[in-house]
Amino acid sequence: MKPIILDVDTGIDDSLAIAYAIHSPELEVLGITTCFGNVTVEEATRNTLIVLEHLDSEVPVIPGAGKPLFRFPLKGNTVHIHGHDGIGNTLSGEPARSALNGHAAGFIVEQARQRPKELTIVTVGTLTNLALAIMSAPELVELVDRVVIMGGAVTVPGNVTPTAEANIYADPEAAEFVFRSGIPITLVGLDVTMQTLLPRRELQGWREKGGQLGGFLADMTDFYIDAYERFNPGIGGCALHDPLAVGVAIDPSFIRTVPMHVQVDVEGVHSLGRTVGDRRSKPASGPNMDVGLEVDAVRFLDHFLSRVV
Ligand code: BDR
Ligand code: CA
Repeated sequence: MKPIILDVDTGIDDSLAIAYAIHSPELEVLGITTCFGNVTVEEATRNTLIVLEHLDSEVPVIPGAGKPLFRFPLKGNTVHIHGHDGIGNTLSGEPARSALNGHAAGFIVEQARQRPKELTIVTVGTLTNLALAIMSAPELVELVDRVVIMGGAVTVPGNVTPTAEANIYADPEAAEFVFRSGIPITLVGLDVTMQTLLPRRELQGWREKGGQLGGFLADMTDFYIDAYERFNPGIGGCALHDPLAVGVAIDPSFIRTVPMHVQVDVEGVHSLGRTVGDRRSKPASGPNMDVGLEVDAVRFLDHFLSRVV
């Protein structure tokens, strides 16, 4: 089993990613750390605990950053995408258990020190917690096996602005810090996640065969697909951004990656948060990550559907 920490801003697709990870026997989920992003960090923590309750999972949840490293929160209102509660307006009460005391960054460092070169960190929200972890313990970059980051848009348009993807845009300095740190990164950006669509028809099966968990995930995903259809008429589904990052942690061959030097625009007037990849034949610097550019969407979707509910 591969030990992982999942860092989330739960979020509808984060919820699907959590279900996928918890249901995957290849992964040992050591803990789920939370950050601001789709919702506040308090809401992300609550939503994560609620999703875990539906999964009958006791995996620890550790709250982290409530705001970007240096800025006031940048990201716009996501109520129209994730609902008033972040989970498609499915919230019906508070979770029975609480998050752990302590901070996400400390948990990440502690877990990495316990298993040198073994830990995979999958981030599907802002990179603030990971940046804080590396700042507090620079040796983390040598201690982890790999970081799989859902974020960025290297060869395709952004989603929150014409050029920026939401997780990077929400804390561009944190992302740039992580990118420069030397930690081994696989970038799972919009380049690949926009090709992995979950068709709405699959929700029927979740409702019929998936018990209370299936109904819960189907209700929130219906809300998400409605939002996707408003922005992309005729799309008939939603992108599986965060689940694809979990999928890549399980099986890296779901995507084809290219080694590349990628930087974040932290000053741009029109392109703040853009992930700028040096795709020239003779780049100015050596690669700092592997960037996913192609995905075997059919094989990934089959795998995801076989696990999530
Ligand atoms: C990313 O932004 C968030 O809204 C989603 O949960 C996903 O992590 C997609 O750009
Ligand atoms: Ca997310």
